[in-house]
Amino acid sequence: MYLTKEQEAMLRGEYGWSTAKAMEIIVRVGESMGADRLVEIVHAHVSGVSFSNIGVYGSRFIRDFYEKGGRARVYTTVNPGCVDYGGLQSIIDNSLLEQQSIIDDALVRMGFKPVFTCIPYWYRPPAPGEHLAWGESSAVIFANTFYGGFTNREGGPIALAAAITGYTYHAGLHVLGNRRARVAVTLAPDAYAYPAGTLGLWIGENLRETPFIPSAARLGMGELKVLLASMAASGSHAMAVIPGLTPRGTYIEELEERVTVEGRDLERYVGEEPPPGGRVLGYMGCPHLSLGELVETARLLKRHRYPRRGRLLLTIPAEYVSRYSWLINELKARGVDIAAGTCPVVSRLRERYDVVITNSGKAAFYLRKIHGLRVRVAGVREVVESVYG
Ligand code: F3S
Repeated sequence: MYLTKEQEAMLRGEYGWSTAKAMEIIVRVGESMGADRLVEIVHAHVSGVSFSNIGVYGSRFIRDFYEKGGRARVYTTVNPGCVDYGGLQSIIDNSLLEQQSIIDDALVRMGFKPVFTCIPYWYRPPAPGEHLAWGESSAVIFANTFYGGFTNREGGPIALAAAITGYTYHAGLHVLGNRRARVAVTLAPDAYAYPAGTLGLWIGENLRETPFIPSAARLGMGELKVLLASMAASGSHAMAVIPGLTPRGTYIEELEERVTVEGRDLERYVGEEPPPGGRVLGYMGCPHLSLGELVETARLLKRHRYPRRGRLLLTIPAEYVSRYSWLINELKARGVDIAAGTCPVVSRLRERYDVVITNSGKAAFYLRKIHGLRVRVAGVREVVESVYG
């Protein structure tokens, strides 16, 4: 692999232990991917920071980089941890606060922005063609598809290494020639009645090539986030092409196959009805809700006073609590449970629920798989009504 003089010096240790180690990680992975060179990035987003996922060894790995001099060379944001930073006493169990704080402290001291969110594009939307090194599959697929940013689906350690060096390997989706849409996905009329998350789960499970999805152009931002995140969760997708939305010049259209998705294909992803009288957890915010989605949720709740059946949990970026306190207070006054800077998939819940109803196919995928919960995928309105109606 070709390295510039600066990159070679980094690798030799002239910029300190952390930079050398980080460069070694990038070069090794790049060589295994057949990269010819490295590419400068403008934004790293580091995932794999939740103590409940990475444990003491992962925590030590991150702290080593900080203690041995690692510092962000580019704008770097951080994914959610396993505790609620909002101080809102949510249903997220905060017993790992101390262990999580040790990780967060190292990340902040390295100069990473403590946004603790899976929607880093809310802080810095990528420009078409910009090179990024992002962890967090839902953010990666959104960056490539909606913004036309160029990023692979990185693991946490590689995104961390890219943040410290300012480079990543030039392979995969950093190369225009690899950004080819090959399968056109159309929907049969009865498939439109199903939530976007179910279509995402179907695509993730059934297609290997980058899909071309004209019907997704009609979706609002919230549904689009859910669709793409679900595809990335149930499959290895890191990009889709949505004509009219995906910026031109950031993909190649080379359709070789067409598939039609019918309602019966999506039915099995919907999941279970809540048992009569059962305790329901309504959940939205996977990926984290943006300001617009929060406002829309508050509008839907205007007709309701208090939850009648279980709880409604929303997850949002850490900073929203102070930035939009007027909105948070309004939602809390209606009994909404809000958790900030965290994610129920990588956290523990304080209470058991008979069924989780969520608009997110990604949340459904992991809550079923990791937490063994019964989950139903529904539209936003149905999620709200199932708790408040
Ligand atoms: Fe975000 Fe957690 Fe979902 S990181 S995308 S809320 S699984």
